[in-house]
Order: sequence, then structure tokens, then C-alpha cells
Amino acid sequence: MNADVLRAINVQINSELRAWYQYLAMAAFCERDKFTGAGRWLKQQSLEEYQHALKLFDFVLARNGTVELLALEQPVREFKTLGDMFKSVLEHEERTTAQINDLFELAFKSKAFVEMTELQWFLTEQVEEEKIARELVAKFRLVGDDPGALLDIDRELGARTPPAA
Ligand code: FEO
Repeated sequence: MNADVLRAINVQINSELRAWYQYLAMAAFCERDKFTGAGRWLKQQSLEEYQHALKLFDFVLARNGTVELLALEQPVREFKTLGDMFKSVLEHEERTTAQINDLFELAFKSKAFVEMTELQWFLTEQVEEEKIARELVAKFRLVGDDPGALLDIDRELGARTPPAA
């Protein structure tokens, strides 16, 4: 594997694991305040991030590269409101999209064609991840702090099905 691309993919594995950890911290925040639907949604989102990390992890090994796991930052554990928390989910996903774009550009410039094919999946996934987060931010903005509407959204979030293995 191209050494620069390998290094950047290892950094991306760390980013996906940071997202896993961050969303788990958000799930804990929601469940503490008894927004159990949002908590369930975030646990599943967290699992998806773990699967993203594992997808790159397995890819590096399949390419005979070395996986280097890095330290994880402490996640943010407190938010002003549920709506604010989902704003940070959206910001996080927008940052992830920018990271994947940079990674794809590096693979392109390095003529790392196999890596480009692998990263294509992540580019497509980010479109969906951002779309879902953006819709949730809009919903929370619409309902404001109306308790009944917040409970409705919480119920809706709780209906999310687990990610495919
Ligand atoms: Fe791994 Fe939410 O993107």
C-alpha cells in the first residue's frame, strides 16, 4: 500500500472510532434524561460507526497493510438540549465528509486505485448520514421546546432498526 494513503486510512479508522465513542456518550446523555428513543437511535448510530471503522480495518489487513490504532479523545458528554446535541451530530458528519473527500483526493493523487474503490462506499454513505442528521436538526428546530412534540420525535427515533451486520 502507498505509505501516505495507509497512514491516512489509519487516521480515518481513528475518526470512525471517535464517532463510535462520541455517539455512545450522546446515547448515555439521552438515556439519563429518559429520552430513550433518542438513546436507542444513537446507540445504533454508534454501532454503525464501529462498523465503518471495522470495514477500513479489514480492508487494510486484506491489503497486507499495518493497522495502527491511535488514542481516542474523551467525548463531549453534556449538551444544552437534545436539539443542540443533534446539531453536533450534523457538524460531526459534515467534518467526516470533508475527511473522506481529502482521503479520496490523496488516493487519487497517489494513483491508489483499489483504495479509491473502497473509499467510494464511504463517499456515498456520507450523503445519507448528512441527510438524516440535517432532517433531524430541522425537526428539532421546528418543535422548539414543546414537550409533546419532543416526545413524538423521541418515539420516532426509537423505531430505528439495528444496522445490518
Ligand atoms: Fe462513519 Fe457517520 O460516518
